[in-house]
This record gives sequence, structure tokens and C-alpha cells, in this order.
Amino acid sequence: MDYDSAAAVLQARIRQLAKITDEPGRVTRTFLSTAMLKANEKVAQWMGEVGFSTGVDTVGNLHGWLEAAPDAPVLLTGSHLDTVRNAGPYDGVLGVLLPIAAVELLRASDWRPEFSVLCLGFADEEGVRFQAGCIGSKGLLGRLSAAEMALRDEDELTLEEALAAQNEGPFRPPPLPRAPLGYVEVHIEQGPELERLGSAVAVVTGINAQNRMRVCFRGEAGHAGTVPMGSRRDAFAGLADFGVFAERFAKTTRGLVATIGCVELRPGVGNVIPSEVEFSVDVRHPSSAQLESACAALHREALRICVARALECEWTSVDAMNAVEFGSNLTTALGNAILATGNPLVRLRSGAGHDAMVMTEFCEAAMLFVRCRRGLSHHPDEFVSPTDLAEALKVYCEFLKRLTP
Ligand code: GLV
Ligand code: MN
Ligand code: MN
Repeated sequence: MDYDSAAAVLQARIRQLAKITDEPGRVTRTFLSTAMLKANEKVAQWMGEVGFSTGVDTVGNLHGWLEAAPDAPVLLTGSHLDTVRNAGPYDGVLGVLLPIAAVELLRASDWRPEFSVLCLGFADEEGVRFQAGCIGSKGLLGRLSAAEMALRDEDELTLEEALAAQNEGPFRPPPLPRAPLGYVEVHIEQGPELERLGSAVAVVTGINAQNRMRVCFRGEAGHAGTVPMGSRRDAFAGLADFGVFAERFAKTTRGLVATIGCVELRPGVGNVIPSEVEFSVDVRHPSSAQLESACAALHREALRICVARALECEWTSVDAMNAVEFGSNLTTALGNAILATGNPLVRLRSGAGHDAMVMTEFCEAAMLFVRCRRGLSHHPDEFVSPTDLAEALKVYCEFLKRLTP
């Protein structure tokens, strides 16, 4: 098989996986859901056809092993198989399916690596169900904090309870490879730079720091027709002030992005003044320290607004990830593979979070970005062209062929 044919198979598998969803008509797969379990089965089947032995760990992550020898060093690779709500087909999935396609191509030649390959399909990176992201990779490394284990989903089930149900007993982190060579993740860029530069692939230099908060403003419910405007304690009006501030603050602070992506108004009735609003705040910056001070400024402003409007404010941090700088041997090796395939060496920083952030706590990590149309992601129109898939496959195969333990 050549790269173009392998890319066509890869594209078809990506489309097929997008049909496995918790919500008919759109792509949604969340942590430990029925669709996630089915996605694991489908990907395990493809892995098996290529020669990987497969299993699902205590977190729900899919493992595909291609063993060179029992004590051989292990190259970890992969990405996540969960999605946001109404997702595109490529985010995460590409990073799991592309290494399988690359191994399939290389095994048809005389490639006999001195290292084993462990391809991981993480059970959660997006954090849709419990709001904290990267539960799959954190769980794999045994780094889920007590606060994370106590997070609750929409049905009030805690993460600890969900994991206990999955394991029919208390959660124990799965075993880890003893001699990791490193972790390499392929991912769509999710931004417009590769398209602007006219390049198919890039090596990633680092990932921005990100914090996720859950905020609740509490006021007082009342009749929408009778309570005078001057004596209301309207929780939504407080959020409106905060939302305008957060956008202006991020626009005027270099490198900062802030998003309020999830809002719940209570009681949520048209003729009742909202007594409570609970909302998410997602804030990111290339510098962990500057992110912390930006979050402190946002918190101060939330408190100021609440004092001015006689509201109560509850501000809870649900996830915090420091910025990561790549630059290891694997990053150089990916760069060399890019050059060897005749592509220009583009270096990009990631504004999006990835499992590679967490994996740096265990071993060296590196990432390869692939161009996606209009830089669109977290959107059903997410698309990678067949030629870019073939180019990324070529780079990844070149990387595998040149890698020596
Ligand atoms: C993952 O997609 C994230 O960056 O939130
Ligand atoms: Mn994503
Ligand atoms: Mn992703």
C-alpha cells in the first residue's frame, strides 16, 4: 500500500468512528459512555488487524501493544477518543488512528523496530463529563487528585464512583511501561497558522497553560413584572457584567484567552428573576505565572461585581495545567522527519490542551500538528484533506523508521 491509499483508509476509518456517538445526528462521546466503549471496541479491532494486542485499562483507556521484545523500550503514542459535544471527526481520533495506519504501512515493508509501540486511546481529554480535562492520561499516571475524584457529573455521580463502577471495585491506576522512550502525539492544529503558511505539518514547541473554573453567582428570585429594577438581585445581570469584563480583559492582555462556554440559569423560567447562575470560565496563556495573575484579576472582578449587586460569589478551580515546553530529542526527531519528507520545518505553539501535557510528567513528549481546513475544530465541519493525511503519515513513518532506542 502507498501513502495515498493508506490515507484513504485512514480517512474512511475516521469517518466511520464519527458515526459512533452518544447523540444521534452529531458526534459526541464522553467519558465511559456507551459510545466511548463502542469506539474502544472498533479501534481495538483495527489495531488487532494490524498486529497490536489490545486491552482497556482501569480508567477506560484503550491500549494497543506492538511488542518488539519483552524488555524493549517503549514508544508511547496516541491521543484521545472522547469528544466535545457536537464535535468534528478528527480531534483526538487522528492521533490514535494515524499511528495504526503508519505501523500497517511499515509492517508491510521490512521494518523491524528495536522498540515496542504502545498506542493509547485516552478515555477523556475534553473533560465534558466532569469538567476537568485529561482524566484519561491523569488516571493512567495515577495523578487524579482527591478534588478531581470528588467532581460530579450531571447525574451527581462522582468521578470516584464512576471509576469504581467501571472497575467493580476501588480504582487502582494501571501499570505503566518500565522503559518509556517517550510519548508522541499527532493532532490537528485546531488553528489557522498552517493554512496561512501553506504547510501540511508542524512540530509543536509547547502548550499554553490553562485553568478551568466553575463559578456561581447567587441573588434572589422574584416576580419579573413587579420587583422594581433598582431593588433586584439578578444573578444573570452579574454574569453579563462579568462576561463583558472577561472579554475586554482578554482582548487587552497579550496572549490571554478567556471563554465562558457553559451557563446554567436557575430557576430558568422566563417570568422569574434568576436567583442563581452557574457558569464555566476557561482561561489560557503561554505563561503559567501570567495565567495565575490573570485568573486572580478575573476573580477580583467577579467579587467586585457581586458586592455591587448584592450577590454571593462562589469561585471554584476545577482544573489547572501548567504550560509545557517541548524541545526534547523526540521533537528534534520529528523535525528531522518533517525535513526528510521534503516539508518545511514549521514550529507552532499550541493554544489547545493535549494529553501530551500530562504525559510530560511521565516521559519526554513531542507533538506533530496537521493542517485542518480553516483552522476549524470543536466544530462538525472539522476537516483534513487526504493529501495532508498522506503527508502526515509519511512524516510519522519516517519518524518511526529513524527512531533508535
Ligand atoms: C481540548 O480540546 C482543550 O484544549 O480544551
Ligand atoms: Mn478538543
Ligand atoms: Mn484534542
